[in-house]
Amino acid sequence: NRELRQGQFIGSLDCGTTSTRFIVFDKRAKIIAEHQTEFEQILPHAGWHEHDPEALVDAMTECINKAVEKLEWMGWSRKSVKGIGITNQRETTVCWSRTTGKPLCNAIVWDDSRTLGVVREYEKKLEEEGLDIDDEEEDLKGVPENVEIGTGGEDAAFGEKGDVVVEKEDGTQELEPESTKAKQDGLVEKVGEKLENLGLAENQSQPNGNQSEHKPKTQVNGDDKTPQQVHKKRKGKEGIVDVTGIPLSTYFSAIKLRWMLDHNRDVHEAHENDDLMFGTVDTWLVYALTGREQGGLHIMDVTNASRTLLISLKTLQWHPPLLRFFGIKPSVLPKIVSSSEIYGTISELCETSLTTVPIAGIVGDQQAALVGNKCLRKGEAKCTFGTGAFVLFNTGEECVRSNYGLISTVAFQAGPDAKPVYALEGSIAVAGSAIKWLRDQINLIEESSDMDILAGSVADTGGVYFVTAFSGLLAPYWDREASGTIIGLTSYTTSAHIARATLEAVCFQTRAVLDVIEKESETKLETLKVDGGVTNSDLAMQLQANIGGFNVARPAMRESTALGSALLAANALKLFGWDLNKPETLADVNTAGVHIFEPELPEKDRLKALKGWEKAVNRARKWHEE
Ligand code: G3P
Repeated sequence: NRELRQGQFIGSLDCGTTSTRFIVFDKRAKIIAEHQTEFEQILPHAGWHEHDPEALVDAMTECINKAVEKLEWMGWSRKSVKGIGITNQRETTVCWSRTTGKPLCNAIVWDDSRTLGVVREYEKKLEEEGLDIDDEEEDLKGVPENVEIGTGGEDAAFGEKGDVVVEKEDGTQELEPESTKAKQDGLVEKVGEKLENLGLAENQSQPNGNQSEHKPKTQVNGDDKTPQQVHKKRKGKEGIVDVTGIPLSTYFSAIKLRWMLDHNRDVHEAHENDDLMFGTVDTWLVYALTGREQGGLHIMDVTNASRTLLISLKTLQWHPPLLRFFGIKPSVLPKIVSSSEIYGTISELCETSLTTVPIAGIVGDQQAALVGNKCLRKGEAKCTFGTGAFVLFNTGEECVRSNYGLISTVAFQAGPDAKPVYALEGSIAVAGSAIKWLRDQINLIEESSDMDILAGSVADTGGVYFVTAFSGLLAPYWDREASGTIIGLTSYTTSAHIARATLEAVCFQTRAVLDVIEKESETKLETLKVDGGVTNSDLAMQLQANIGGFNVARPAMRESTALGSALLAANALKLFGWDLNKPETLADVNTAGVHIFEPELPEKDRLKALKGWEKAVNRARKWHEE
């Protein structure tokens, strides 16, 4: 019954691929209280990776409640937490019922590669039918005008110029011709009615059940268009990258959603009946936090939306030609919001101890880490070594197209009226997950922390290369047919060489991504800011400096992802004077000790190692090609 002190703190919920954490920060980004928990990784078949959405909610609730318990134990009132930010594993796709608020199946995780068939099918469709794109949608370069949902304008057109995606009272979105909207007569032409019924494959899976082979049967409307309704057909891969900044790949959400629609009866029927709610993990958790029993908020921040393959990077809105192309009804879509604003408060119906606290920041985890590393200015870059490794390079208000295999993405939008900031991203699918693989599947080590001892027991890999292409290769190779490959084995090879080659794999890929960034930006990177679980390994960071040929800067407080969403939330709440438009206001944030790892490998040895890596990658490529 002791009197609890009142303070001013900001909370951050970070739901990653393998664990969730909730951290309470003070105004210098010092961690006051935290709790972390792992949740189950469901791996039903080779290449499949699922999460139970309810397990994500349970992990979130546990983390918030336990961290708040610690805070109170330290003598602080829970009211000291003035708001929370949310950051999440991106692309992972969740489908649930509007009526029940319950998931319709397990979430398909970002690195799941079961959807290869969907990608092939839609590539073919793109080649054959192309994408109808408004002329104005073609050029990604330049600063986009942010078009509000329902405000109309050409950029918000669905299918036909003048139609708009409007938000209805119940929060769903539909197509409404602008003239109809003006009359407010409610006679809305549903895009879904234009779509032919989606056929269902035999033996359709139920949630968590057996799945049948992919048989896409989507028929996209378009044949019934009048000539003036067809603006421009963009055929081939470029067509989609030009609009979205990202390629057709198993990685992105629309492909996963399409798979669910085609293979899961409940998802398919909910889509037909306008009962389906689609979201990424941020959407799902906000929905749960804001009281799904009473119809929680259905929103997705713009950084997460930029990973769906369903928005135009120019308008930052759901893009009608893409929805039509993938056969997805607007009624399933959340409202797109900025990364920093007060969206709502935690519901009293929710089992967390922070009820009524505002939710004020939402951002994908890699973008969060960019913000948390204070890479707020054009030209600044970071790499987060988590389950995967992700290099993000801030390109400012300009949305730059990469010519060499990077993707264009939204870095953050610091408020509904703020201009979006963009980034070029090099995504590497496997980093920490390779260490987990050595631990859990191969039993090479008992604890992840044993890696440094084992890999450090040898001076080099003895000529071994490990291309960790467990689900193909992402940037800059984008080879979904690549296979995990260990090459260079001899009778001299030991487990230590393989462990070292595992650490080196992510360093080589990071170097390859930075090669591209240097080429695109015509600048040489001197220092790379890093964070994420793998950066706890001194050896991995030294190898990164050696292989990269640049300095690696590792901060003492490495929860940059959580910090990023806390910064965005505090920015919206006007807390601590933090203002993301004025980086100088963050001068006192997370300044404690930075460790710099400097390259120690002679340049000729570095170049030789890089050559060996490229040879190994070439061996791993196209392995699964049909
Ligand atoms: O794009 C996937 C990424 O957001 C996953 O991040 O930190 O869980 O590996 P992480």
